[in-house]
Amino acid sequence: MLHMIKISDGKATFCSRYVKTYKYMVERDLGHPIFPSGFASFNGLTASMARLGLSVARVLTGQFNPVINGIGTANTSVAAICGKLYALGESDLPYEIQVTSDGDIITIGRHDFHSRKPFFSMTAHPKVDPDTGEAFAFRFHVVPPFLTFFRIGSDGRKGPDVPIFSMKSTALIHDFAVTKNYAIFNDGQMVISPVEILRGRPPMRVDPSKVPRLGIIHRYAEDDDEMWWIDVPGFNMLHAVNAWEEDDGESLVVVASNISSVEQALEGLDLAQLKLEEIKISLKAKKVVVRHPVSAKSLDLAVINPAYAGKKNRYAYAAEIATPLSAVAVVKLDLSLSSDDCVVASRVFEPWCTGNGPFFVPNNPAADEDDGFLIAYVHDEKTQESKFLVMDANSPTLEIVAAVKLPGRVPTGFHGLFMKINSDELYWGNLEFDPEIETTTRRLQKEIEQVKGEVSTSSPSEAYFELDVPAFSESEEEVMA
Ligand SMILES: [Fe+2]
Repeated sequence: MLHMIKISDGKATFCSRYVKTYKYMVERDLGHPIFPSGFASFNGLTASMARLGLSVARVLTGQFNPVINGIGTANTSVAAICGKLYALGESDLPYEIQVTSDGDIITIGRHDFHSRKPFFSMTAHPKVDPDTGEAFAFRFHVVPPFLTFFRIGSDGRKGPDVPIFSMKSTALIHDFAVTKNYAIFNDGQMVISPVEILRGRPPMRVDPSKVPRLGIIHRYAEDDDEMWWIDVPGFNMLHAVNAWEEDDGESLVVVASNISSVEQALEGLDLAQLKLEEIKISLKAKKVVVRHPVSAKSLDLAVINPAYAGKKNRYAYAAEIATPLSAVAVVKLDLSLSSDDCVVASRVFEPWCTGNGPFFVPNNPAADEDDGFLIAYVHDEKTQESKFLVMDANSPTLEIVAAVKLPGRVPTGFHGLFMKINSDELYWGNLEFDPEIETTTRRLQKEIEQVKGEVSTSSPSEAYFELDVPAFSESEEEVMA
């Protein structure tokens, strides 16, 4: 389900809609689920075989055609690529989404970026170059090639595949990093072995004997001949925050979250410890020259000013993850400190409140890197009330400058995106080239100031937008298990 808030003319419109994936539509029409989730429990050989046999029978009888239409739920992330908005899940192709002028969400359909050859899945974390408009993406598979890298041009068309034959088995690769010249992949200890299903066990497992490594390939490479790998023990990347080149292009720096307790992560996600790390790689020596955590806190779902994607940046903003797995605070990190404690500001949510990953909205392209807003959804488990928060990213306390009380629950722990909408067109984070972005962000600030002055506040630090009517929604009860 996508949750969206539109802020316009001093009012907010809230919308929750399921992405109308093929799986959703088929199961909605039938009234029950017919294809097992990849995360479904595996209860032994007999149950696994029964589940597999039932799925095959349903495909053979024409109830379901996952090979042609995919099985994804498009509920991992959202991305703006070449002016269009996509809902993504890594088990399927992206689904194009459109936001209507009255604030509703429409699913346009599954999209393959006009690929000449069919392909069936794509990472939920493509990387968009804010200068060129290109997007870089990959997919992993359980048969060779286990990893495939590809580019989507600024015209929205997918380029040729670059199979990575130096990947010798399937690793669970959720994210990667891209700089001006390179793409960086993590081949970690979380692996996928479909044969495990035949043994009645989950296909995902941890291989403790494997040494994690990073693979570096030129981002315009046509094959993987010049790709090289370096061992990075104990580094199992979940999300890349940013990466860039420095020392006149002789070094790469990657900032990413590392699942530091990977052996426990598959037993229960709430056991996962996530540490943000900075890793510097010498391209000449082909080795890691600096590696350190940037905070002792458990942090993930980090973002930066999107204008700095692939370039050296100073500030990052992350969710602090507590046990059980939930975002209880948002922190600001100053990476220029190059220390084990780069946290320079934080906001702890109220007791019982958990949030999503924050997103950074710059004030305007010419502003300082951290001049802008942090936005996030927060849910109060006790009152069952959700809010949309706008925080001042430049404030030492990440002060809440505006908030919207929402009519429905927004689940926490997910990714988000801020976009400008103009009629039916979507203007995305191409901040340097889109003069209208400046107008929008300035208007957002103006509206926040206006609302702060007009609306009575329930706490000194919060001002509430009025919620415009209608507030679109599809309740969670409408979804099938
Ligand atoms: Fe993710």
